[in-house]
Amino acid sequence: VNAADIDAIVDRHAGREGPLLPILHDVQAAQGWISEPDIVAIAKALNLSRAEVSGVVSFYHDFRRAPTALPTLKLCRAEACQARGSEPLARWAAEQAECRVSVETVYCLGLCSVGPAAMLGEDVHARLDRTSLGELLVRAAG
Ligand code: FES
Repeated sequence: VNAADIDAIVDRHAGREGPLLPILHDVQAAQGWISEPDIVAIAKALNLSRAEVSGVVSFYHDFRRAPTALPTLKLCRAEACQARGSEPLARWAAEQAECRVSVETVYCLGLCSVGPAAMLGEDVHARLDRTSLGELLVRAAG
């Protein structure tokens, strides 16, 4: 993500209580990991020290400090998909994926009325359940 992307992500969470974690989640969802320049830009935008942001990134094991070589399945966990069962599905997917597929969170793929939704490569998939999501994970793992 570039500086403009960081600004847009920060703006999206501005004024909210404890914006750092949702911002970090959005950056990771956008590029799969959080770089040092991202940390510097986020720290500046939130008026925090680089060490404070870096400390939070290191504390939560979900955040990656380097790009992953694993295939990535992006699973939507925004509100509409949550209402359609994305949370238990996400936990299940993380267990199933083990170390073969990186299951990342995204916030809305534009398929809110037919969620839970996910994206693999350029393709989006809707109305996911364990069966269809399991097939996607197998396909992602190659
Ligand atoms: S909330 Fe999941 S696709 Fe919009």
